[in-house]
Amino acid sequence: MDQAGPADRTTDTREKPPQARLPLFVVGAGAAGTALALALRRTEWPLHSLVSRTRAKAEERSRQVGGGAALALDELLAGDLPREPVLLLLSVPDRLLESLAAQLARLSWPGGVALHLSGSAELATLAPLRAAGFALGAAHPLHSFVDPERDADALTRAVIAVEAEAAARAQLQAFTSALGARAFQLAPGSRAAWHAAATHGCNHLVALLDQSLDLMQSAGLPRDDARAALLPLLRATLDNLEHHAPAQALTGPVVRGDVEVVTRHLDALSHEHIDVARGYRALARRALQLAEHGRALDPTLADALRRALAEPSS
Ligand SMILES: NC(=O)c1ccc[n+]([C@@H]2O[C@H](COP(=O)([O-])OP(=O)(O)OC[C@H]3O[C@@H](n4cnc5c(N)ncnc54)[C@H](OP(=O)(O)O)[C@@H]3O)[C@@H](O)[C@H]2O)c1
Repeated sequence: MDQAGPADRTTDTREKPPQARLPLFVVGAGAAGTALALALRRTEWPLHSLVSRTRAKAEERSRQVGGGAALALDELLAGDLPREPVLLLLSVPDRLLESLAAQLARLSWPGGVALHLSGSAELATLAPLRAAGFALGAAHPLHSFVDPERDADALTRAVIAVEAEAAARAQLQAFTSALGARAFQLAPGSRAAWHAAATHGCNHLVALLDQSLDLMQSAGLPRDDARAALLPLLRATLDNLEHHAPAQALTGPVVRGDVEVVTRHLDALSHEHIDVARGYRALARRALQLAEHGRALDPTLADALRRALAEPSS
């Protein structure tokens, strides 16, 4: 397998000339596969087929994308394949990649390039497809796919983590370039840490917001009103993070050294919100590190906060 690219591994591929675009097969027309198919179709990338578990679902996705033949997976496995090389996008849940690659490798493909979209699966997951004539690669969009129309637009602002065998690189570059995304070269063996970072920062932010909604509800706000109230706060926080490093973007009682406020919070959480209190303590301890090292918090206040935030003895 090929080694990672240059030291600055973020590449703006938008200025590069287009490479030959292989006809696209999306196997797994779910959230990510459909949005990518839509974004690529808008660039006039040749879209061959969208594949779901059922024909009905594939047809629904094909209507959303505005093109591509709709196939059930069984139909793909039993049917006629194109004669020229294709770009095969495997966009199924990660746990299914290996078995799907083995199933697809038994077909008489003309070859081409096979990409998966997983952040954590290594390229070797697709190894059976190499024997079927494909060069392998991975393209993990650092994006949260929920709504294909909005997602297809947002991809131009996204980073896509790429890793590929030499023979797949030109097609992968054409793919990221067509999407207008920035490509980040991932080194082999680094995918689990990369994906844990994305999951922790994105998916767990949603879980954190949901816990905040529990607390707002305890304070008497209906959940929808609470979400509307919290969103501007989250947006302002993200905006601060865009312009400042985490230590400088941090506000709140920890960075101010307000020990009594933190103690009051933990008291309020200690009865009905024990799970929230656990996460609160862990994250507040990280905020304390930022406040100590990035903002020179008074050491006496820092020690008092450390005591307040220690795990309670069980
Ligand atoms: N969602 C994200 O935000 C995101 C972000 C970056 C990368 N990714 C990656 O994108 C890939 C797809 O994730 P997703 O979120 O798009 O998943 P998803 O919305 O659940 O879609 C999964 C697709 O796989 C198909 N599928 C499910 N079970 C199957 C089975 N047993 N056999 C064959 N096909 C099956 C589904 O078929 P039906 O259409 O019939 O339901 C669907 O088309 C994953 O590798 C994920 O790590 C996702």
